[in-house]
Amino acid sequence: MPEASVQKKKIVFSGIQPTGDFTLGNYIGAVRNWGRMQEEYDCVYCIVDLHALTVRQEPKAFRERILSSYALTMACGIDPEKSILFIQSQNPHHAQCAWVLDCYTQFGELSRMTQFKDKSAQHADNVNAGLFTYPSLMAADILLYQAHAVPVGDDQKQHVELTRDIATRFNGVYGQTFVIPESIIPKSNEGARIMSLQDPLKKMSKSDPNPKAGISILDPPDAILKKFRSAVTDSEARVAYGPGKEGVSNLMVIYGIFTGKTMAEIEAEFAGKGYGDFKTAVGQSVADALSPIQDTYHRLMADRGYLEQCYREGARRAMAISGKTMDKVHKKLGLIL
Ligand code: TYM
Repeated sequence: MPEASVQKKKIVFSGIQPTGDFTLGNYIGAVRNWGRMQEEYDCVYCIVDLHALTVRQEPKAFRERILSSYALTMACGIDPEKSILFIQSQNPHHAQCAWVLDCYTQFGELSRMTQFKDKSAQHADNVNAGLFTYPSLMAADILLYQAHAVPVGDDQKQHVELTRDIATRFNGVYGQTFVIPESIIPKSNEGARIMSLQDPLKKMSKSDPNPKAGISILDPPDAILKKFRSAVTDSEARVAYGPGKEGVSNLMVIYGIFTGKTMAEIEAEFAGKGYGDFKTAVGQSVADALSPIQDTYHRLMADRGYLEQCYREGARRAMAISGKTMDKVHKKLGLIL
């Protein structure tokens, strides 16, 4: 047998919050890439419902969102037989490990997290301790599986860097315990940060109050086309990628993802044409790409029994791995097993 085939595959971990329908940003920046990594890596993907508790959730709607996020992840191409796909709260090791890591994370480090600063400004009436220690739960997610690589959008880079610092610190005190993970982030012209369609200087986000700012991957085709037609661009009427043209560049990145065209090819395709044709073409490429995902999603949501079988099996497989890390951590700390 050739040497490469006996080598173990590297491990990938990533997660998504079940706080709303996934946006085009979630899809392009992260979930689409998760699917493409399933052959090369051993992948573990998670619906991080505990992270979503940092903002108030209505229990009935939340339960439905957790399930629909699970189904949506599958519809985006995650095969629960090839990869481990599970719901975070169904594996108690995450909260357990997060507490240990909290004790190895500094107040100053957590205070510097830009997501904490943004979210505490957004939810000024509920700046809870969970919002503050959110990154150590995320570190637990990653480190429990000894993940080598973490595919995320650009906005999560700082959290993965903190995970590396926490793991390095723990290993420094107790000897090799955790693999030090690396983030895998798309290039900026391949969707590291998909911007709002209404304010191209702001990230496209599930929580944006303006419904025209973001595309949900469950939006029907006419809504998608309408939102792209009203996307904010500039007054130059020139399809070109680069600084000062953030709105157009964002649309070009999206179009490039779904057509496989480079920025130069897109510039050539729309040379001498107005923004109207361009925006319609971008919207159409997105609607065409999302349509099979939507079909699969609706099919999965109609089969709750199958979904349940998948997430229970996912949690069982996840726990078998994370349990080994948890035992190792407790032993190193001097706790009694
Ligand atoms: P979340 O749920 O906000 O987003 C899920 C993934 O989508 C990416 N993303 C984007 N990428 C490009 N452009 C955008 N506009 C955009 N918006 C979101 C995010 O970078 C992310 O990769 N803290 C994480 C969830 C998490 C996690 C983890 C991720 C918890 N534990 C462990 C990796 C590993 C979050 O809130 O993602």
